[in-house]
Formats: sequence, structure tokens, C-alpha cells
Amino acid sequence: MSVPDQLLTPEQRHRYDRDGFLSLTAWIDPAAVLAVRHCYDRLFAERAGREAGDHFDLAGSDLDGGTPALTQILEPARYAPELLETELFARCAALIGDLLGPTATSHLGHAICKPPGSPAATPWHQDAAYWDRSVDHPDAVSVWIPLQPVDTDSGCMEFVPASHRSRRVLAHRPIGDDPRVHGLELCPELLDRVVDPVACPLDVGGVTVHGGYTLHYTGPNRRTEPRRALIVMSGPQSG
Ligand code: NI
Repeated sequence: MSVPDQLLTPEQRHRYDRDGFLSLTAWIDPAAVLAVRHCYDRLFAERAGREAGDHFDLAGSDLDGGTPALTQILEPARYAPELLETELFARCAALIGDLLGPTATSHLGHAICKPPGSPAATPWHQDAAYWDRSVDHPDAVSVWIPLQPVDTDSGCMEFVPASHRSRRVLAHRPIGDDPRVHGLELCPELLDRVVDPVACPLDVGGVTVHGGYTLHYTGPNRRTEPRRALIVMSGPQSG
């Protein structure tokens, strides 16, 4: 596997520190991204991780037989270890190492698939809302990699610039205030924090990067193709 040599410019690093996110075009060779799709689609077709509780509907109540609106596989490399041998993973791990230092570790945290026509938005949230508060978390970084072009019609990432700066976890609740739902959303009375959000459409090979406190969102998928995304995160694999 080729060792990544292109890292962030000082200007990109400055923007990341200032805004809490970055949108990077052409970070990965598009062929290396498309090479992962077959494996990705197989994991969803096989419902990999269902038995272990790693495969579930993030936005719905996940009753078997329902149509999932936003399917997530946690730690997909548990079910397809070859994903860790890909150029895609190496490029994203290099990016995390560049931001956090050479001792940073990375893992493939999630695969999230928004089916064609899914009305489910991934509501505004901070990833830090999911963290175990009893554990000290150093600066966390997530790299979001779409496996096809994305725009606001298919559910690209959107961020609130500078929302990370207080380094506070805002109040969240289960999506739709339904306790059976796995996903979290910013409490409605705090939606006034969503100021001037920036949508990040990307071609294949582009990625976004954000920190644990940065408010972010993806909209519904109004397209006829699934919206496939992988997320590489700093830190060790969970479980
Ligand atoms: Ni998130």
C-alpha cells in the first residue's frame, strides 16, 4: 500500500482549528474509494453484525421487519478486516495522525447507509454526546468518507462553524424523543445554536473532518441511489 505523503497545509490546519471541521476534495484516489463499495454493499446485504448488536437502524425504533431509514454498522472491520488494508483507510488514518500527532490511533468506527428516498435526516448533534462521560476523551477526530458523490439532496455533511469552541457537550435527547431510538439529537430548545451551517458537497475521493464538539447534520436522501458513507475515527476500536 502506498504511504500517504500529502498532508494538511498550514492553512487547512488553521481552518480546522478555527471552524471545527474541514472539507477536503480529492483526499483519496477515487478508484481507491470505489474499490471499497463492493465490500460495503456486501456487509449491508448480509446484515453483518446483526447478531452482535452492531447493525441497527439509527433513526427508527429498529423493530424487525420495518423499513430502516438510516442503517448503521458499528466497527465494520470486525466483519470485513480487509477494509483496514485499503488505501482509503490508510489515507484517513494519516489525516488523523497529522491532526493529533504520530501516536494517534485510528479505527473504522461506522458504516452508515441512507437508502434511496430515505426521509430520515441525521439530526443536529455533537459526537461528544455519545461519549462515556466517565472517561477522559482527548481531542477526537472523525473523517467522513462518502462512497459516491454527495450533495444536499443526498445527505452530505453540514456543520456549524466554530460550534466546537466552548468544548461543552450540549443537551441531547433520543431522536424524536423516542427512547427506543439509538441516535441522539440536539434538544429542540438549543436549535438556535445552528447558525449559518455550511453544507459540504463532495465528489468521490473527498472527505470531511470534524471534532467531537462540532455540531453537524446530514439531510434526507432524495436520490435514487443509496448514500453510502464510512467514518474513520481516532482512538481504539470499541468493544
Ligand atoms: Ni456524528
